[in-house]
Amino acid sequence: MTTTTADTAVTTESAVTAEGVDTAEQPTLQRFQPTDLDAAPEVNALLERLGLGRLDQDGLASFGGRNDNWAGRTSGGRQVFVKTVARAAEGGSPQLDRALAFEHLAAHRPAGSPLRTPGHLGSDRTAAVGVYVLLPGARSGSELALDDAFDEELCREAGRAVGALHALPADRAEQPEPVTEDAPLPPMPWLEALPWSTVQERSMGQIAAWRLVQDDDQVIAALHALRAAERAAPHAPVHCDLRFDQFLRHDGKLYLCDWEEFRLADPARDVGAFAGEWLFHATYAVFAPGAGQEEGPAAGFGLDHAEIIERGAASLRRHTPRITAFWQGYLEQLALEGRAPDAGLAERAAGFAGWHMFDRLLATAELHATLNPVARAAAGIGRTLLLNPSGSVATIGLAQPSGSSR
Ligand SMILES: Nc1ncnc2c1ncn2[C@@H]1O[C@H](COP(=O)(O)OP(=O)(O)O)[C@@H](O)[C@H]1O
Ligand SMILES: [Mg+2]
Repeated sequence: MTTTTADTAVTTESAVTAEGVDTAEQPTLQRFQPTDLDAAPEVNALLERLGLGRLDQDGLASFGGRNDNWAGRTSGGRQVFVKTVARAAEGGSPQLDRALAFEHLAAHRPAGSPLRTPGHLGSDRTAAVGVYVLLPGARSGSELALDDAFDEELCREAGRAVGALHALPADRAEQPEPVTEDAPLPPMPWLEALPWSTVQERSMGQIAAWRLVQDDDQVIAALHALRAAERAAPHAPVHCDLRFDQFLRHDGKLYLCDWEEFRLADPARDVGAFAGEWLFHATYAVFAPGAGQEEGPAAGFGLDHAEIIERGAASLRRHTPRITAFWQGYLEQLALEGRAPDAGLAERAAGFAGWHMFDRLLATAELHATLNPVARAAAGIGRTLLLNPSGSVATIGLAQPSGSSR
């Protein structure tokens, strides 16, 4: 969850999308060279079994992500998105099983549900391959955020989608049942010390980022308390890996993909992750070159701490209305379904948003030899949220709307 690796080089190109976005400003598109299909014969084998024809390497695209994926038109004329996920040593794939559990539950969505997902066409559980309807010309939420196009209305729509997800009937008796095991992060034993095997694989920047957590007894205690609160909270069907790049905008509608972490868990995880994405974006975006900034050194080098904090705070104020829009959409959708959030949800979400800052920091630190000043500022915000979640709820835009009964 923390790392995003690709065998192929990142080619963040500017190109015109099939969606026909205005050409004055070239939109951000993250596209990769797909892995050779000859090395993954299970892909075409499954497509043929599904009666969809075969994919040809020519003209295929791949999108960023942890797993290999291929997007293109089959010889049968079907536009598909195919992905392979990790296989367990003993065969099968818990990741794919979780995604299938979601598909199973999602089949009960009412028509017109704001929870939209790319249609699932079929999977091979042994080979750990899934085939979905391609949303041609779709842009991911992370691309939209980089272009400042993930606006309040889209955030509200995201909130509705996540509200509809959390309101799905989790108690259905049919198989396969959603997984109930603990969500994977934070890896609590790592808070004490990194296992030696992982130290060897990590960059100096990541080790420095982990030390920020490990040397901070208050952060560790807060993470343990958050885990305990999560266990005691009412659980619901939860995405559990809700980052910007799991959202897709296609034909003006929002879709949610990548269900391999799906399980019954604390709904505050999803709310907190979405808020944390914006907080991290807000802290990073102000210093990223080319992200709408007229000036300013990349990653905050050359700025003094006070300047970083001031610019960061201004950026946070600009972005929190989007978290509020998400939260309003979320509450509206729950209310439509006759539900209300449990009393502690917003506070736990603030804690998870704090953890999310560390999580993203650990992921981005992978590429660096040192921790840059902006990374440290992001960690500082994460720390504040973790140590004082109840005092942070309103600041990050998760307050109960006035006039609400709770
Ligand atoms: N059906 C689809 N149509 C178009 N693009 C998709 C589709 N599904 C996923 N994507 C894009 O591909 C990216 C990677 O897919 P995802 O399922 O998130 O894989 P990973 O597990 O590798 O993160 C997503 O971030 C999204 O931008
Ligand atoms: Mg993904």
